[in-house]
Amino acid sequence: MAQDRVAIVTGGARGIGRASCLALARHGFALAVVDLREEALAATVAALREAGATAMPIIADTADHALAKASVDRVLSDWGRVDVLFNNAAMPQTKRILEITEAEWDREMAVNLKGYFNWAQAAAPAMLAQAAPGSLGGRMIMTSSVSANAGPSDQAVSRFAYATAKAGVLGLVRGLARELAPAVAVNAICPGSILTERTEEAFAPHMNRIAATTPLGRVGTPEDIAVVVAFLATVEPCFITGEVIDVDGGANIN
Ligand SMILES: NC(=O)c1ccc[n+]([C@@H]2O[C@H](COP(=O)([O-])OP(=O)(O)OC[C@H]3O[C@@H](n4cnc5c(N)ncnc54)[C@H](O)[C@@H]3O)[C@@H](O)[C@H]2O)c1
Repeated sequence: MAQDRVAIVTGGARGIGRASCLALARHGFALAVVDLREEALAATVAALREAGATAMPIIADTADHALAKASVDRVLSDWGRVDVLFNNAAMPQTKRILEITEAEWDREMAVNLKGYFNWAQAAAPAMLAQAAPGSLGGRMIMTSSVSANAGPSDQAVSRFAYATAKAGVLGLVRGLARELAPAVAVNAICPGSILTERTEEAFAPHMNRIAATTPLGRVGTPEDIAVVVAFLATVEPCFITGEVIDVDGGANIN
């Protein structure tokens, strides 16, 4: 059935993606939730439906270019439009420079950078077609990281490949913001330390230190990011594009 407002969220099964799906649902979006984790994906879609939203699960590896196009085509055929793409799925890096293999480097880039390109390219034609003079045809929001600018803050953890991909996301955002203007607004969010299923184990021994070195005095939550996603998805009129918003409690003030 055709929908009035449609958002696609990659990595939406848990963490920042899930919180953003719930926030967008509160703004009346129908949600296409993309993830590899089938069980968590089903739980998020169930929670969205329970909250009264229209939601569709899409089990996909965002690194798969053809699958991104097929998935966006399915959203368009079921719901008739795509207003927001939140490119958010990413994987962490575990190996240091002397241990990481070529295949692991390639996978990091395939998910954390090429995956963003895949879904942006798949969604762009519909957003361009939906644009009218003076009104946007769509909005893309992409999760980068404060690591893109600052590098990993914790020297015990190697994240050079992750940081490289996240810096690439900023290039993608700035390039597409120019290329897709004035039809599509494209912006990036750089989360700081956000407590999610992915980070809780790594953060556990450092919670006090993170809070102490964060001017706003606490570790971030997925909802801290979700409110900014919802803002960029809905602010009207929208005169923001190519922007990078740090959401880190002030941890990287410079
Ligand atoms: N949590 C933080 O402190 C933090 C800080 C900076 C940036 N970020 C970024 O925020 C985003 C979300 O992070 P999070 O902490 O919520 O992580 P998370 O691991 O809790 O959630 C990420 C989701 O993406 C999915 N995913 C991963 N690879 C995928 C793939 N190839 N195809 C489809 N789905 C895939 C996972 O299954 C998971 O559900 C990521 O881009 C991450 O790099 C997080």
